[in-house]
Amino acid sequence: MSIRYDEANRIFELDTRNTSYRIGIVDEEGFVGHIYYGQKIRPQKCDQFLRTCEAPFVPSKNNRERCSFMDTFPTEYSGNGIGDYRESCIAVKTANGSRTVDLKFVDYDIVNGKPGISGLPASFAGEEEVQTLVVHMMDGGCGIDVDLIYSVFEDEDVITRSVSVKNAGDRNIRLTKVYSACIDMDDEDFEMLTLHGSWARERQIERRPIAYGKQSVSSLRGESSHQDHPFMAWMTKGTDQTTGDVYGMHFVYSGNFIAQIEKSQFDSIRAVMGIHSEGFEWWLTPGETFTAPEVVLTYSHDGLGQMTRNLHDFYRCHMIRSRYLHQKRPVLINNWEATYFDFDTDKLLAIAKSAAEHGIEMLVMDDGWFGHRNDDATSLGDWFVNENKIKGGLKHLVDEVNKLGLKFGIWMEPEMISPDSELYRKHPDWAFAVPERTATLSRNQYVLDLSRKEVRDYVCECVHNVISSANIEYVKWDMNRQLTDIGSVEFTGDRQGELAHRYVLGVYELQERLVNDFPDLLLENCSGGGARFDPGMLYYSPQIWCSDDTDAIERLSIQEGTELIYPLSTMGAHVSDCPNHTVGRSTPFMTRAHVALAGTFGYELDITKISEEERAMIPEQVSMYHKYNDLVREGDYYRVASYRENGLYDCWMVVAKDKSEALVTYVQVLGRPNVHSRKIKLLGLDVAADYRLDGTEKVYGGDLLMNAGMLIETMRGDYMSRLYHFVLDNSLTCLLYTSPSPRDPKT
Ligand code: GLA
Repeated sequence: MSIRYDEANRIFELDTRNTSYRIGIVDEEGFVGHIYYGQKIRPQKCDQFLRTCEAPFVPSKNNRERCSFMDTFPTEYSGNGIGDYRESCIAVKTANGSRTVDLKFVDYDIVNGKPGISGLPASFAGEEEVQTLVVHMMDGGCGIDVDLIYSVFEDEDVITRSVSVKNAGDRNIRLTKVYSACIDMDDEDFEMLTLHGSWARERQIERRPIAYGKQSVSSLRGESSHQDHPFMAWMTKGTDQTTGDVYGMHFVYSGNFIAQIEKSQFDSIRAVMGIHSEGFEWWLTPGETFTAPEVVLTYSHDGLGQMTRNLHDFYRCHMIRSRYLHQKRPVLINNWEATYFDFDTDKLLAIAKSAAEHGIEMLVMDDGWFGHRNDDATSLGDWFVNENKIKGGLKHLVDEVNKLGLKFGIWMEPEMISPDSELYRKHPDWAFAVPERTATLSRNQYVLDLSRKEVRDYVCECVHNVISSANIEYVKWDMNRQLTDIGSVEFTGDRQGELAHRYVLGVYELQERLVNDFPDLLLENCSGGGARFDPGMLYYSPQIWCSDDTDAIERLSIQEGTELIYPLSTMGAHVSDCPNHTVGRSTPFMTRAHVALAGTFGYELDITKISEEERAMIPEQVSMYHKYNDLVREGDYYRVASYRENGLYDCWMVVAKDKSEALVTYVQVLGRPNVHSRKIKLLGLDVAADYRLDGTEKVYGGDLLMNAGMLIETMRGDYMSRLYHFVLDNSLTCLLYTSPSPRDPKT
């Protein structure tokens, strides 16, 4: 049992393998308070941390003085307008104009399993694996019932949260804010970690001290965005990969969000996460319910590395549904950087032929095959093949590619509409636009109004027709602009505030229909590179294109930030041509492959045009992928060194769950003169086991590799890289360990 209710003390006890979460109910008023989250503790009375008996002022004895008490009480979900001046989690507008929400405990349920959330992506688990606590609260004043929902994933040290709000009255209510989670705790001199970015620079790790007041990251771009990421962690100062207390909070949502930490006058912090309230409104008629998206919480006592592994395991076991999750993905070659819009059947077949000869397994035809699209100014929405380019039609091309022994994949951008398209000429009102205003173009395109069923049905039909027209086994679903001018002719003026969320629900519905109708399709999500890389999209696709920046060196920090919270198996990564198209840098062909091997692996270049020498390396790289991908996809990830931090080199490793093998990737970004070989201490191995460096006779103890380290010989030149593959080898064991095995200090 991972959830218990201690009736005598009125405490909910939520326990995972290594963590505990405690919620207390304050008897008289029915406040629901946060007592504790952290390392595992035994069940016991611990409600003193609610500090319900501390009088606010000297010499006051009124320890419930409202404005002081509510403003310091550690709540599980903050109300609004009732004396808690920190961030509220919920706001309404009732018929009488009131915004106040004052929630009180009513009852609770503990159920086995993990309920889904209608219309939204959410984690899943069997009835045996997970328990769920629902804390029922209500505010009779405004007539709402609010459920706080907690699911406890014992094995992964994860607790998920979400919130549902029901109109329990007899008049319409307008919700203007519904966050998904709130945690109050005493500040322990925490630092905050977030992921910021831009196009081609996604998910750069940033750490900052937590100051008094509010610090947040957010998106109002209609998607999770390049710029900020729906994730935050807070951790004790000095936290590194192996030590320190870390709390991670991640949003299972692909639209506008806020992730915020606020430090109060009493040195407590309030962490909140949810749909951004700016512009948000949602009407609830009597009896209707709104459910906010899920938040994933994890705690690690052993630094960032353990947080990472908790999240990787959680997403692999409980979020990604695709049948490809545990499979090698076909090594693909994508023609985007090879040809951009300038291609035809002959060019694609020439690429496919050479690709097949070199062991590549799938050709992906990117943007530019439909309507009359020869640049980014036209045809989105016209999802019929351009036979001037694809001579003989799509089926002919796919059949020819299949004959060469390759699978075929296709690019689509179904959420968009070009003003120069048959679709727009027929249905100009299908694009988002505010009445009486000219909508803003971005990349020469508008966004389809996916709040409308007829638009979703049209999009669905187009995508389905394309996929059914030939043997298409992979789709890259792109989304190349952020939302503006969000207005719909379908909804009345007072409901326009629902559109940003309805858009996201529309995207989810489309992808749900797609994966249901084509369960064998391999779907890769994408958004101008990695602008919509989030757990919500992983519910539909097992992989997401990480960034349009394919330079091996730029990718080091982009992939480090991505790997911090996402399994390597989800990270779209390709070898591209040099000089690199985004930064103009030239790196060795093998380094590009070593970096791409951390992800799904593929090529993004014109194989017919690269040098003979590079082409000749492709079969070796493909066989490395086949050799290592099971380990990379399923193993435990350890970050050993960060180029972002040291400016010189990068190193990460993946260790098999049973610790029988490990792959270390080392990148020497800058060569230096007259230096010793570098010593790297490995992580996550079995200290009592011996490991042979694959391809050699060299055998080392796991204890030696982790505590003394291994030497990396200095390579000559910049941007050089090496892979080190260690496999179990017991030849040393008898000699080395005559005394009991040493205890592993850090894994
Ligand atoms: C986005 C994607 C690219 C490519 C282009 C096509 O930028 O990230 O990989 O597909 O769109 O327009």
